[in-house]
Amino acid sequence: QAALVEKSKRLAAYQAVKDYLLPEYTRIGIGSGSTVVYVVEAIAALGPAVTSNMSFYPTGSQSEELIEAAGLRLQYISKLPAGQQLDVAFDGADEVDDDLNLIKGGGACLWQEKIVATSAKRFVCVADFRKLSARLGTTWKKGIPIEVLPMAAPRVLDELVRMGSQNPRIRPGLPGKAGAIVTDNGMWIIDAPFAPLRLPKDVDSANHTDTGSDGVWTVDALADRLIKIPGVAEIGLFYGKNGLEVASGAQKPVAAYF
Ligand code: A5P
Repeated sequence: QAALVEKSKRLAAYQAVKDYLLPEYTRIGIGSGSTVVYVVEAIAALGPAVTSNMSFYPTGSQSEELIEAAGLRLQYISKLPAGQQLDVAFDGADEVDDDLNLIKGGGACLWQEKIVATSAKRFVCVADFRKLSARLGTTWKKGIPIEVLPMAAPRVLDELVRMGSQNPRIRPGLPGKAGAIVTDNGMWIIDAPFAPLRLPKDVDSANHTDTGSDGVWTVDALADRLIKIPGVAEIGLFYGKNGLEVASGAQKPVAAYF
């Protein structure tokens, strides 16, 4: 299984770069995680003839190192002038639903990822065959990653429980490191499991239960509510955009959300 997953990630990455990295592009967002390693490999393999006019915008320390190690030009989103956009951003995901909504943040980089994704004209999500599911929260059972201000974490946990999250937790540090994991932004991550999320199209109008009153939230309603909790910096639900499809390395199509 492990070898198949790696093969699928790699094939999806090469396919995504082939289909969505146009030679005229100059500003490219690079996300985080193990799948993006193959995206950067596929881009570097195009050689300087294609990449020398391109600048690459990271979503955290991991992708910054990846870009530099591949010999690609590093640039920062903070330097992107107001009114301008990236041409495209590539990133992975932890789970992708039928409407191409995503759970992200398994690697704790979701805040910068969302800023880079929403700064791009087109966002391409590269994911292996395990990540697709009808409803978010089906295969990624650890919970929705939520980046929080550390001093607010207990209050955020209380509110998540009131909203029906089952056993939300502060993500621990890496093995051997005491305390919580600290993000590139000095924040903590809470993982908040919810019952698998409905898509807005699944809501029965006669029994309008999009707000979690029956313990099940729609993606949109949950995202709207989570982001309003005081102390929440950003949430790992990427949602509400029209998808385009990227051929994956496996049999099924894999997703993107713009
Ligand atoms: C990082 O915080 C995440 O959003 C990653 O993009 C996501 O966890 C996918 O990672 P893998 O490609 O390693 O599965």
